[in-house]
Amino acid sequence: MNIDTLKQIALEAGKIVKEGYASHHKGVSHKGVVDLVTEFDVKTEAFIIDQLKKTFPEYTLIGEESHHGSYHYEKAIYIDPIDGTTNFVHGIPHLAISLGVWEQGRPTLAVVYNPILEELFWAVQGEGAYCNGKRLEVSPQNKLQNALIATGFPYAKVNAGIEYQWVINCMTNLLPHIQDIRRLGAAAIDLCYLAQGKVEAFYEIDLKPWDVAAGILIVQEAGGKISNVDNQPFDFNDKSIVASNGKVHQQLIHYLEKI
Ligand code: IPD
Ligand code: CA
Ligand code: CA
Repeated sequence: MNIDTLKQIALEAGKIVKEGYASHHKGVSHKGVVDLVTEFDVKTEAFIIDQLKKTFPEYTLIGEESHHGSYHYEKAIYIDPIDGTTNFVHGIPHLAISLGVWEQGRPTLAVVYNPILEELFWAVQGEGAYCNGKRLEVSPQNKLQNALIATGFPYAKVNAGIEYQWVINCMTNLLPHIQDIRRLGAAAIDLCYLAQGKVEAFYEIDLKPWDVAAGILIVQEAGGKISNVDNQPFDFNDKSIVASNGKVHQQLIHYLEKI
């Protein structure tokens, strides 16, 4: 398993995403009330799967647009062909292809590529995290009040149910005690921005493995911490994820509601 091959596949797939970003005919349809999918999500995923099948035949391929069933396999690659589809549809250049390789329940390789801004994030377990060749390190900030925090809103918010309530309650508790909130629209990049030291933390509920599989390793390799909202080791079955520079983790969790 080779990081250069994985990067190359993401770079090639990026050409399809870039073409779609410039096109007025994105072929948008609805998976849910506000959950969009485009022809380019499907086309990019099909390309990635075809390439990965040839290069990494021993891995189970778990792509957002084609996978059904379990998330747990001994060797798996989690694929989000476009993380940030709403941004993609609206012409906001904040989106990425996310490829996360996991073995025996641990991340080993990660690539997150924003083809519009030409930012290639990657990490290898034990060898660090990088963006366009530059080594990444989380922010040294240790005061929550000075921390910029990224988050996201689950598509289930439209039901105004427990997910919506959790989002609102967390924000009500947290907002007076932090510098500010950012909702940028692509969880994979939120995690990369944390690894890069641009934000101090990130939290969200209802994310899927393809949203976070790559970003988790990039954060860890940049010196950050990942857990669930109970401050226990994160598992794909968890409803919530909390990621930080490690220094504001406990302070942040204090204001987040248990779910
Ligand atoms: C979404 C983005 C968004 C997050 C949503 C995700 P998609 O992924 O990562 O930031 O808030 O929960 O589902 O649908 O654009 O691949
Ligand atoms: Ca996603
Ligand atoms: Ca997606």
